[in-house]
Amino acid sequence: MIRILVATVATLVASPVFAQEEHVGAEPYRLVCQSCHGEEANGDVAPPLTGGQLDAEYVLAIVREGFGQMPPISTRELTDDQVRDIVGYITWLNERESSPASVAVEPSR
Ligand code: HEC
Repeated sequence: MIRILVATVATLVASPVFAQEEHVGAEPYRLVCQSCHGEEANGDVAPPLTGGQLDAEYVLAIVREGFGQMPPISTRELTDDQVRDIVGYITWLNERESSPASVAVEPSR
């Protein structure tokens, strides 16, 4: 019984909530950011956005004001909420990458 519970919890932990559905931030990301930051934010001509914690307000400031080689992007192209969705998408990508496909749990005897 305990082993079944452990297996169920491990499965739940390993599968992201939106495993089958696309994240709401994926589309605006692809439309506006992907050409520079690459597929799934893994980097291209611009550095990867995955691999660290991203703060939505920090990203909003960069998107509106520009950053080094990155041009500012106006609210006509992307609303504040869409930028937050994109940050959520990148956070989701990070979590998906850091969660192992299966959690090894030693059965207790
Ligand atoms: C025209 C290309 C281009 C587009 C489009 C673009 N970026 Fe960037 N971005 C860059 C470049 C180049 C850098 C690195 C700038 C530097 O280090 O001088 C950068 C840096 C960043 C950083 C800072 C990373 C760090 O090291 O802290 C963030 C965050 C970021 N971009 C988010 C976004 C988001 C979100 C979008 C889409 C809304 C986006 N960018 C669209 C080119 C782009």
